[in-house]
Amino acid sequence: MKFYIAFFAFVFSSIVIVQSYAILREDPVSDGCIRIHNKFVSKKSNKFSYEDVKDCYERIPFDDLIASKTIETLTRLLDGFYPFLDKAKEPPQSGFSFKSKDILAELKLLQKKSFQNLYDFIINVKYFFYDMKEPHTLFITDCFSTFAFITNITLYSIVKDDVFDDTIDPSNIDCEVTHINGHQAFEVIYKFAQDSVYLSRDIGVRFNTALDHKHSGYSFSVRAELPETPNIVYTLKCYKHTRSFNVTRNWVAFSTPSLLKRFNNSRTYFTNICNATEENKPTSYSSGLQDIKISSNSIHRIMTIQPEGLTIIKIIEDFMEFYKIKDFGVVRILTMQYPEMYDENDNFNSAFFTNIIQGFKDLTNTGVKKVVLDLTDNLGGYDLISAFISLLLFSNTYPSFEFDFRITEPMKLAITEQFKLAIPENVFDMADYADAKTYINFTSANDLFGNNSFTRGNITEHYSKKFVISNAYVEFLKEFIQNFTTPLPWKPEDYIILTNGLCGSACAMIVEHAVELNNVSTISIGGIASIPLLSCTSFPGGFVTDSDEILDSLNILGIQNNTLMPKNFPLTGIRLTLLYTETYSNRKPVKLLEYEFRPADFRLFYDEKNIKNISILWSQAAAFIGKKK
Ligand SMILES: *[C@@H]1O[C@H](CO)[C@@H](O)[C@H](O)[C@H]1NC(C)=O
Ligand SMILES: *[C@@H]1O[C@H](CO)[C@@H](O)[C@H](O)[C@H]1NC(C)=O
Ligand SMILES: *[C@@H]1O[C@H](CO)[C@@H](O)[C@H](O)[C@H]1NC(C)=O
Ligand SMILES: *[C@@H]1O[C@H](CO)[C@@H](O)[C@H](O)[C@H]1NC(C)=O
Ligand SMILES: *[C@@H]1O[C@H](CO)[C@@H](O)[C@H](O)[C@H]1NC(C)=O
Ligand SMILES: *[C@@H]1O[C@H](CO)[C@@H](O)[C@H](O)[C@H]1NC(C)=O
Ligand SMILES: *[C@@H]1O[C@H](CO)[C@@H](O)[C@H](O)[C@H]1NC(C)=O
Ligand SMILES: *[C@@H]1O[C@H](CO)[C@@H](O)[C@H](O)[C@H]1NC(C)=O
Ligand SMILES: *[C@@H]1O[C@H](CO)[C@@H](O)[C@H](O)[C@H]1NC(C)=O
Ligand SMILES: *[C@@H]1O[C@H](CO)[C@@H](O)[C@H](O)[C@H]1NC(C)=O
Ligand SMILES: *[C@@H]1O[C@H](CO)[C@@H](O)[C@H](O)[C@H]1NC(C)=O
Repeated sequence: MKFYIAFFAFVFSSIVIVQSYAILREDPVSDGCIRIHNKFVSKKSNKFSYEDVKDCYERIPFDDLIASKTIETLTRLLDGFYPFLDKAKEPPQSGFSFKSKDILAELKLLQKKSFQNLYDFIINVKYFFYDMKEPHTLFITDCFSTFAFITNITLYSIVKDDVFDDTIDPSNIDCEVTHINGHQAFEVIYKFAQDSVYLSRDIGVRFNTALDHKHSGYSFSVRAELPETPNIVYTLKCYKHTRSFNVTRNWVAFSTPSLLKRFNNSRTYFTNICNATEENKPTSYSSGLQDIKISSNSIHRIMTIQPEGLTIIKIIEDFMEFYKIKDFGVVRILTMQYPEMYDENDNFNSAFFTNIIQGFKDLTNTGVKKVVLDLTDNLGGYDLISAFISLLLFSNTYPSFEFDFRITEPMKLAITEQFKLAIPENVFDMADYADAKTYINFTSANDLFGNNSFTRGNITEHYSKKFVISNAYVEFLKEFIQNFTTPLPWKPEDYIILTNGLCGSACAMIVEHAVELNNVSTISIGGIASIPLLSCTSFPGGFVTDSDEILDSLNILGIQNNTLMPKNFPLTGIRLTLLYTETYSNRKPVKLLEYEFRPADFRLFYDEKNIKNISILWSQAAAFIGKKK
């Protein structure tokens, strides 16, 4: 095997693949993909052993050319378009933990390394991005997202780690987990949060996420990536037993028929999943996970709504919920991304937005004087929704932060061409944004580029003029809101914003707007008990796109073959999601939101009661409304 890998580097990749597989005998003993196919066909099973998946993934050989082309494209994308290239070199600000890095230098090192197989390479590149804890910018692959892994034990933490749910032996529920694989349970979860969770720069937020199986794939119990070992040994201490005992659970791998149908050995796995033709690409990037979500609602019981003690005012399924509990209201916003926000012609969908207004009106009509805004586990979405909600809550403050981008040669060229050609829907289109100082539209590419330079990570580079969402857009939203409602009755001090710290991107925009410009109080729940402060938001970032969109946009502008520009990735099943603007706070002195630790004003912890009954948690949060910070 090794011999052929060394040889691959000297021939073209397409030939390599054919040759390498022509040499391999189809061997169901070592090719896990064949075993998976056989089980899928003969037993109609979509559940597989850890070993089957490991042997399937690891069967796909490392290919030097794929690796070097991948790193090359990543380098071009990040060098050309990533705003934090220099900032990422600075050590973490107090309150944050992440690895600072010289991105381009470290990519070069990665390019020189040798890997055991393609999976080894891909996972190393993934962790290169995970380490930055900036989840707008991630390396995504179809290739190794086919399976998701569970052990049927999920954990929760009320300062110590406890079993929340055990679908194999329910008598274990609520037992204390003292050790995992022989190590202190806290240490194991902490390390997982530190290394493998990437959704926040705040370790406390990552700790919450590690224990939260709603976010399947980011948590300790539900994984999107091949776990390190075939099983986990939990040491439990239960009230009914005097002595501790061990429970060993194997990881079970899940997938979905639409993916399982695509391959019958590792060769067809590679051609139909890792590098499927554009027409034949899998539609979902993590279908195994989606299947778990659907098939196992039982493991997602934590924090479900208990009907006692609360009145449902309005539910917009999978988006917004309005409740009344005793004398206060709750508005829960689950996401900033909703398919119906645009109508079939891709226009602003009035019906969708009037429905949001209706929820607030219905809540107003109950007469509640205080409101808990629960934005827990909200991973963001569109700035249209955050601007709309910010304006609905606070009609007098401008609902846009200030943005800019790093001016590089590729960025300059792309924006200049876009100004000339004015192609709609292009990533580089700035028509909806205006000068942050004057609110006047930019008249030319040079007008937008301006003359700012900043020193970050000891490197001085040019950055564009700061810009905001165009006033025309804001006026439209304001008028729309005024057409359907009078201002809401609540003042900023009547609200409290509750999160578990996982309120990212467009969600963070709503919160930071409420905090910075309206002095709304915030409260965070969970985290690590020994760390006093916990963020209320994560990854405020900026605008995000991906490599496919960038390449398409460059192509439409006719500049993709310019030598400065990134080339396509060597496999169709890989891409990079990419942040391409920065966001500044409105507070003085002005700072980059992404790099500023923003702890909540108040803190709550999970306990035996509120972890299972969210109305208790909401009551606890409501008790802080109006308190001095
Ligand atoms: C549980 O397993 C661990 C190793 O995973 C071992 O160190 C420990 O002694 C075992 N405990 C019990 C109670 O069997
Ligand atoms: C395996 O799949 C390939 C293409 O997907 C197909 O051509 C081939 O006949 C299949 N082989 C078996 C043994 O089913
Ligand atoms: C991946 O597929 C493309 C066509 O979609 C092909 O040109 C390329 O050679 C394939 N790459 C490998 C490594 O097989
Ligand atoms: C483990 O959990 C999955 C998903 O909930 C379920 O399908 C499976 O039956 C469980 N396994 C056992 C042994 O209970
Ligand atoms: C949940 O808490 C509320 C108080 O906030 C209480 O009225 C209700 O009975 C509780 N539900 C359960 C199932 O314990
Ligand atoms: C500025 O741009 C916005 C968005 O493209 C547009 O609606 C508005 O008419 C423009 N304003 C002026 C004065 O050109
Ligand atoms: C750009 O900034 C530099 C230093 O701040 C200044 O000397 C120069 O005149 C400026 N150029 C323009 C075109 O504004
Ligand atoms: C910037 O330069 C200073 C002084 O040479 C040095 O101490 C510091 O480590 C450098 N910072 C970075 C991020 O390279
Ligand atoms: C608001 O209502 C007026 C009068 O009906 C209408 O002309 C206008 O287009 C509406 N504005 C929006 C943004 O819907
Ligand atoms: C880029 O592609 C265009 C056609 O799409 C071609 O005319 C031009 O010569 C190419 N430039 C380079 C540098 O390859
Ligand atoms: C913000 O609210 C706090 C009470 O939560 C109050 O003490 C403070 O004065 C307010 N600050 C401003 C600028 O309104």
